[in-house]
Amino acid sequence: MDFRTVKQWALLTALLTIIPYNAAQALPFNDDMVDSQLRTGSIMRPKAADSVPLGSLAFRIEKKEDAFDLINPQKRDAASVARGKRLFAVNCFPCHGNIEAKEYKGGPVSAKFMVPPDISGAYYKNKSDGYIFGTIRFGGLAVMPALGWKLSQSETWDIVNYIRSVQDSK
Ligand code: HEC
Repeated sequence: MDFRTVKQWALLTALLTIIPYNAAQALPFNDDMVDSQLRTGSIMRPKAADSVPLGSLAFRIEKKEDAFDLINPQKRDAASVARGKRLFAVNCFPCHGNIEAKEYKGGPVSAKFMVPPDISGAYYKNKSDGYIFGTIRFGGLAVMPALGWKLSQSETWDIVNYIRSVQDSK
């Protein structure tokens, strides 16, 4: 064997040692799946009929009207209102604009087609928390899209709490 062949063998051996080792280290199962009850080839049993994931009762409602009587489980404290304000800025502001403003004008998007009703006004103050929850989750009367798919239950209640706090401040 000449020197070049020896070098090639050495390189090959080194690679064959390093590559599988790295691959084994990279497999996420190493750490995550050790304590799992599921073994390779086994699958989870389906949920029993009518079982409810913890804390997810409201997400079993199938249409808007079902939400109207829901009781708001989220305490309206400063933290919840602050989270709601942030979520409102991201998800609602483009159409509803600054609802804290004295003179309601709608948002930059709605200004181009249709200014929504002022949800900080008396009319919506008299609607239930569940009504606003249902509107966010399933959409408005005609134009407003359903936004439930991108907001968790508690995020939705945070937005309700924010709207309530703005209504109370007027
Ligand atoms: C794409 C624009 C758009 C977005 C985004 C949007 N809305 Fe609306 N919203 C409207 C329009 C337009 C109306 C009035 C017509 C209707 O009800 O469809 C409305 C109506 C409403 C109403 C009154 C519904 C009723 O029954 O009278 C509430 C409450 C409301 N929106 C809350 C929100 C909240 C909270 C968000 C954010 C999570 C949001 N909207 C996001 C456009 C939007």
